[in-house]
Amino acid sequence: MTRHVVFDAYGTLLDVHSAVARHAPRLGGAAPAISALWRQKQLEYSWVLSATGAYEDFAVLTARALRFALDSHGLRDAALEEALLDAYRRLDAFPDAAPTLARLRAAGRGAAILSNGEPAMLAAGLASAGLALEEVMSVHGLRRYKPHPEVYAMAASRLGAAPQDIAFVSANAWDAFGAARFGFRAFWLNRTGGPVEYGLDGIATPIASLEALP
Ligand code: LAC
Repeated sequence: MTRHVVFDAYGTLLDVHSAVARHAPRLGGAAPAISALWRQKQLEYSWVLSATGAYEDFAVLTARALRFALDSHGLRDAALEEALLDAYRRLDAFPDAAPTLARLRAAGRGAAILSNGEPAMLAAGLASAGLALEEVMSVHGLRRYKPHPEVYAMAASRLGAAPQDIAFVSANAWDAFGAARFGFRAFWLNRTGGPVEYGLDGIATPIASLEALP
């Protein structure tokens, strides 16, 4: 029996590409590549820090990754950089996020978040996107990033639930893998219709939209 529903935040409820989309005219044709590289580097930095036992918060990594992405495209513009970081603090929610949370609430189920995001950044992002959750759990206190198993263990402990009683929903394949491997009932939200990776077809339930959550 699934007793708790836990969502990833960035990429799952919040559209990480909405920051660049808002300023696309200032970035020209490189906008999609910059947004993809920004996200890729932000995640890479988190994984490398966790693998080496180091930690810096996700807001710092987000700023550092943006600087790298802009530099890679020869764009050094302090005002643009600040505008993009500000947009990242106020990302759009995906259209299926609020209705899904409302549906869970109507069914008497609370929903939580487990995110690599730093708490203030998460709180501001969720508030500006108009998303309300019963519990927002950040890795920040642990100083380790997903998909380290300690992060999923922290969530299970905070919820006071056995891993198999927790449904975990992430649009990030690596995160769905980490959650499934830890023992959560994992749902891989494949928003882009991308190919299966991490052998997820055997260990996680694929869904194309949050509306498909059982
Ligand atoms: C999150 C990012 C990494 O944990 O998607 O919210």
